[in-house]
Amino acid sequence: MRGMPKKKVEDTHEEEVPEGSGEVPADLLESVEEVFVEGGEGVDLTVLEGVGPTTAKKLTDAGFLTLESIALSSPVELSVASGVPESTAKKIIAAARKRLKIDVMTALEYYQQRKSVQRITTGSRGLDDLLGGGLETQAITEIYGPYGSGKTQLCHQIAVTVQLPPERGGLGKGAFYIDTEGTFRPERIVQIAERFGLDPESALKNILVARAYTSDHQMVVTEKAEPYLAGRNVGLVIVDSLISHFRGEYTGRETLAERQQKLNRYIHRLLRYAMAYNLAVLVTNQVVSEVGFVWGDPTKPAGGHVIGHGVTARLYIKRGKAGRRVIKLVKSPYLPEDQVEVAITEGGVVDV
Ligand code: GTP
Ligand code: MG
Repeated sequence: MRGMPKKKVEDTHEEEVPEGSGEVPADLLESVEEVFVEGGEGVDLTVLEGVGPTTAKKLTDAGFLTLESIALSSPVELSVASGVPESTAKKIIAAARKRLKIDVMTALEYYQQRKSVQRITTGSRGLDDLLGGGLETQAITEIYGPYGSGKTQLCHQIAVTVQLPPERGGLGKGAFYIDTEGTFRPERIVQIAERFGLDPESALKNILVARAYTSDHQMVVTEKAEPYLAGRNVGLVIVDSLISHFRGEYTGRETLAERQQKLNRYIHRLLRYAMAYNLAVLVTNQVVSEVGFVWGDPTKPAGGHVIGHGVTARLYIKRGKAGRRVIKLVKSPYLPEDQVEVAITEGGVVDV
């Protein structure tokens, strides 16, 4: 196992999670029970051709609890996660697709599937417009930028706005918040909920928080999130930050390929969640200095092509004039590059 960096636990109410257990602390689970009560139940996978009880157990142990989650994974991913040979994985995926009647689809069918895409207001009109109406489900949105630029603030905010009823731009659903840096602050949720006229206590109950202490732990915690997503009451998965553990642990050049492979698997899992459960995924990323960069912003997102290709839309946030923040859309499958200015206040991110 890779070296576990000793992390200082800053908050006294945070408990060290045993290495690799991936267990979400019980008190957190309790607080969200009402909302996530439907989660945890998978289907009987032995209905699939070629899947006996042993294979079914391997699959469910690896977090593949629904036909959708299997149908939307790749043979390599399924094989690596569950330990079944890749050739078997291929057959299982085909069987799941057959059963769900999805495989090749016409453009019309694809169009219809796209129509089930929902949008979550960010709480800023300007940012919503930049994103073509808010954060999309069935997609991964990345926000990257330097320290203190407001990435974590935005994560807190959208964990609240996703809970707004549809007529106010939300999904009326909760959020699963994976916190890798220990920067989740319930106090901020309370303030933001108040701004949006939501009951702070229910706003907190609708957010399931899981702290991840290492990149391995982050992978496990994310795998274990699936039963809660399968409950279909989660509209948003947040990973803040996506990459900090990976960067901290895989430092040498010789480990770069391994790191990128692992990140790639991780991002594909997130994308599968987004597709299988029609939810939005929001990830934050750091910036790295570009060697020899002379003009413009001497920064680019970390993680290279694996993240660049893996995410659907990419936002860049930086400090602007007078304490404001500039958010720029730098990648989107169909929207023009553009930018917007916002401010961070006690009530969260607001239009200026
Ligand atoms: P890293 O995680 O360090 O990379 O940074 P980040 O991009 O996540 O920054 P974060 O979202 O934590 O932003 C921190 C900044 O938000 C602070 O420096 C403040 O400027 C601002 N901020 C946070 N809370 C408040 C608040 O209650 N009121 C106001 N006005 N600003 C706040
Ligand atoms: Mg942060």
